[in-house]
Amino acid sequence: MEQLNIHPELNTELLNFKLPEKLGFGNIMAPVMFKADYNNGNWESGQLLPYAAISLDPASKVFHFAQILFEGLKAYKVETVHPVLFRPEENWQRLNRSAQRMLMPELPQKLFMQALCSVTAFCQDLIPAKPLHSLYLRPFMIGTQASLSLSASDTFSFYVIASPSGPFKSSPLKVFIERDNTRAAVGGTGHVKVSGNYGAALSSTSNAMNKGYDQPLWLDAVEHRFIEELSIMNFFAVVDKEIVTPKLTDTILPGVTRDSIIRLAKEDGVVVHEQAMDIDDLLFSIKSGSCTELFACGTAAIVTPISVLADKDDQKYELPTLDDPVALRLRKRLLDIQQGQTEDTFGWLCPVPKQDWQIGD
Ligand code: COI
Repeated sequence: MEQLNIHPELNTELLNFKLPEKLGFGNIMAPVMFKADYNNGNWESGQLLPYAAISLDPASKVFHFAQILFEGLKAYKVETVHPVLFRPEENWQRLNRSAQRMLMPELPQKLFMQALCSVTAFCQDLIPAKPLHSLYLRPFMIGTQASLSLSASDTFSFYVIASPSGPFKSSPLKVFIERDNTRAAVGGTGHVKVSGNYGAALSSTSNAMNKGYDQPLWLDAVEHRFIEELSIMNFFAVVDKEIVTPKLTDTILPGVTRDSIIRLAKEDGVVVHEQAMDIDDLLFSIKSGSCTELFACGTAAIVTPISVLADKDDQKYELPTLDDPVALRLRKRLLDIQQGQTEDTFGWLCPVPKQDWQIGD
């Protein structure tokens, strides 16, 4: 399993690849991908291949029963000699929780790290050495068995693709409270990173965007009252100078950035409450002025302030503009660690050394 098969054309692919000036987020794909197959109850050796279309049987389980999960993490190379991955072990653990929930095989940590490190090392000259730029890594696993009967696949493929990326979004978010549709129900898959959660969020996201907002804010499926998350970000408020964020349940994705922000805030002496958050209480505290900030965080988004929360009747709850907001302080602290601009006292960074098959060697 630890052996890595490297496609002979890969270096030529890299030589021919031109990184465009304008990157955006997740739009440009690096010319490489990692693939490992699961057959007969075992993961086979990984392969580093030229980025290319995947050929699958139309009856593959992934198409019919959504046996697919994914992860997202970034490699930075701003101030560090080698690219650094941010807390990849957390993504590996979450991937395996997703796999368990979806009746997919768990991935050995060595295979996961080999995939991330080989793709990152191969792309290291494509990682922009600029603040807020990174190589966004997208590991994913699919069920490939060709069968239309409802049962788990017995064959799977694991891939990692990568996208040299700029910032996700630079302006503050405008968020629309989703009072009707729900993202996840108790006992469902909201707490794991499976593609179905994101597909189910698309229509509300599109509705919010059509109204001029960036994201819907999901409420719980039982009472439509308690705040959950924003589909691709976790949600935070600053109330009376203390941070409040929804307590994790089986309907909220446990973000790696969420966990990092909570730890950084506590280290900075800020009190953090992880608790149920009633949307109407929050709206009242914005109106009364005790809630001074809202922000969201995620791998892609890092930490992004929310400038307005809007309700169904088009009522808008605007947040004040502050001199030294908690959100921006935490964002800077996190980015300084990720970009190697300050000491990594938490031990969160995982350097990816150059590998001897790199182009130019
Ligand atoms: C991430 O931040 O990695 C996400 O999952 C968001 C992505 C779907 C854009």
